[in-house]
Amino acid sequence: MEASFWHARWQSQQIGFHQTTVNENLARWWPTLEIPAEARVLVPLCGKSVDLLWLRHQGHAVVGVELAESACRAFFEENALPFRVEQSGAYVRWIGEGAADGIVVLQGDFFAAPADVIGPVHALYDRAALIALPPAMRELHCAQLAALLPAGARGLLVTIAYPQAEKAGPPFSVPTSEVRERLAPDFSVTPLHEADQLATPGAPNRWGLSALSELVHAVTRTR
Ligand SMILES: C[S@@+](CC[C@H](N)C(=O)[O-])C[C@H]1O[C@@H](n2cnc3c(N)ncnc32)[C@H](O)[C@@H]1O
Repeated sequence: MEASFWHARWQSQQIGFHQTTVNENLARWWPTLEIPAEARVLVPLCGKSVDLLWLRHQGHAVVGVELAESACRAFFEENALPFRVEQSGAYVRWIGEGAADGIVVLQGDFFAAPADVIGPVHALYDRAALIALPPAMRELHCAQLAALLPAGARGLLVTIAYPQAEKAGPPFSVPTSEVRERLAPDFSVTPLHEADQLATPGAPNRWGLSALSELVHAVTRTR
């Protein structure tokens, strides 16, 4: 998915991926990881997710990375959070102030972002980021995660799995076997939870799929 695809999505507000409330898996599983509050969390491809704020409320400093200016702006404005904006080379830094102190959203291409522009990070929250990308870009994404996160860093990686032949992505199907393959040998991957999205009678099936699961993984940078 090229940048133009995502800019068009934001421009036309085709943002079905956005959740207005905190992601249930984040609220349920993040505390089980016992990541110290001092850990600064990397949230790649963050959109305008309110999960940034939830992580901040747990005590973490947070850095999101997002291409679309309107998403960066909307995160702060829709949550009535004060901010200032600074240019940082090819990137724009949206810096939270007051109630949003400790949150930075870096506007620009995640895959090209140098470590010193992102700053030190010690934990990861990836929801609808890896699965937003076609295979070749997933490779880049995982290489960038390995480049940015130091040994011992932990986090959550949430994907979905479905028969890929039944629908074109995004979102793409990324089963646990692929998460393992792509992150090896830099990360260990522990499946925490699998939720059948179609199990409840009457559950919405907007893509008409024969199967759809949400998969929650704990990941640890091992070296
Ligand atoms: C499927 S959305 C998920 C957003 C967010 N994680 C959430 O849970 O709502 C993917 C987001 O990644 C952004 N994006 C896509 N490619 C990117 C890139 N190379 N660098 C930074 N952001 C990117 C898009 O603009 C979009 O907001």
